[in-house]
Amino acid sequence: MSAIDLLESQHREVEKLFAAFEKASGAKRRDIFLQIADKLAVHSTIEEKHFYPAAKSEETEDLLAEAVEEHLGVKRIIADLLEDDDAESLEAKVAVLKDQIDQHVEEEENELFPRVEDALDATALDALEQEMLATQEELLSRGHPRDHIPQEATR
Ligand SMILES: [Fe+2]
Repeated sequence: MSAIDLLESQHREVEKLFAAFEKASGAKRRDIFLQIADKLAVHSTIEEKHFYPAAKSEETEDLLAEAVEEHLGVKRIIADLLEDDDAESLEAKVAVLKDQIDQHVEEEENELFPRVEDALDATALDALEQEMLATQEELLSRGHPRDHIPQEATR
């Protein structure tokens, strides 16, 4: 595994949760949304804290600035959903969240990740993965990672 494999496997996990959300109903949906929120909270933190700074170059600068704005948009939707537990709006808002994540994942996997793979060697990518795993562990040990989202969404 390397840093990029780790991020891609997290993308696949979130996609599975969105699919499960579509099949579920009632209280189960809220529960799946909360799992999505936790996964995305960890994922965006490790990207912003470790991956994006390591990926920064003249070539990736614009893509990274866009990615950070996209994260912010995603955090705003999640913060909104965490506050509002109305089942009616849950479905529509999760659908919007899924569209934004799909687009973001596509950009990362098709444009950003290949450039980072060219720029960093295997040793650097492995070291980066270790840093990301350590932060992930720390976030998971502190309770629900989603609890930090509302505060990050107000930037
Ligand atoms: Fe991302």
